[in-house]
Amino acid sequence: MRRFAVLTSGGDAPGMNAAVRAVVRRALSKENEIKGIQRGFAGLFNGNEFLDFNLGSVAGIIHRGGTALLTARSEEMLKPEGLARAVEKLIAERIDGLVVVGGDGSFQGALALQERGIKTICIPATIDNDINGTDSSIGFDTAVNTILDAINRLRDTATSHERVFLLEVMGRHSGHLALAAGLAGGAESILVPEIRWDLDDICHRLLQGIERRKTHSIIVVAEGAADVFEINRAIRSRIAVETRVTVMGHIQRGGSPSAVDRLLGSRMGAAAVDLLFDGKSGLFTALKGNRIEAIPVKEALIRQKSFPKELYELTLDLAR
Ligand code: F6P
Repeated sequence: MRRFAVLTSGGDAPGMNAAVRAVVRRALSKENEIKGIQRGFAGLFNGNEFLDFNLGSVAGIIHRGGTALLTARSEEMLKPEGLARAVEKLIAERIDGLVVVGGDGSFQGALALQERGIKTICIPATIDNDINGTDSSIGFDTAVNTILDAINRLRDTATSHERVFLLEVMGRHSGHLALAAGLAGGAESILVPEIRWDLDDICHRLLQGIERRKTHSIIVVAEGAADVFEINRAIRSRIAVETRVTVMGHIQRGGSPSAVDRLLGSRMGAAAVDLLFDGKSGLFTALKGNRIEAIPVKEALIRQKSFPKELYELTLDLAR
């Protein structure tokens, strides 16, 4: 019998619970022991964060957003002494394999542990969907739908008052979330960090809309692309439109996971345990088309996920 452990780390993402549930239940069905580590990597440095998990430990969580295991961003994992302590702890707890559910920061921590001899498998979970090598990450679909719901509501009030709404969404370094929500929500412009945007062009598009008697416009701004309030001021100083700013904030990170994220979490969780069971390490579960494949964690970290420029152009072409 082997002893595995699972933790969730970095920003929470809807569907993390489905992944943890799948890890725990798959591990138990293969007659392994499974521990849940609370508060992400920080749980390796505090006392009493290792929980004994049984089938009932993950009951009633598949439909819940956030992470029942709790999460944190750990500074300790960035330091060599911290890493050495983390390895010591995992060895002392006799952990034969660790599943890390999180984003690229979590992947870095997992890779560092793997390089120090701890068997690790990662599961991509971030609403940013910015992990290279996987079509999608757990949490992305739910967040897109949450933003869409907001866009629908904003459009109602925007139309009634004939206003332009600027909506800031998350994405410190990437615009995948802004693009998907903007395209699906029919946004007139989308600002993302990956693509140079031009204020004249944004204003020109707004004026074109007004000319053909359009009663509303939505501009989606990824937080890493620009300061939404500055853009707002700049638009107002150039053209006579009434504007309002809405910041989605952490509302877009919570909420019950969509079916897509529950399925992804369940499939990836089970796949991660199967990989550990087969003695694999340093890999992550990636969605490629409709298949879950195991690819090196290094691949996720080596380069930025490419931005689908053709979808960006499609958005501009369709939203006129
Ligand atoms: O990494 C995911 C993310 O959602 C980013 O898009 C966002 O900038 C960040 O988390 C916010 O982090 P925090 O919850 O620590 O403020």
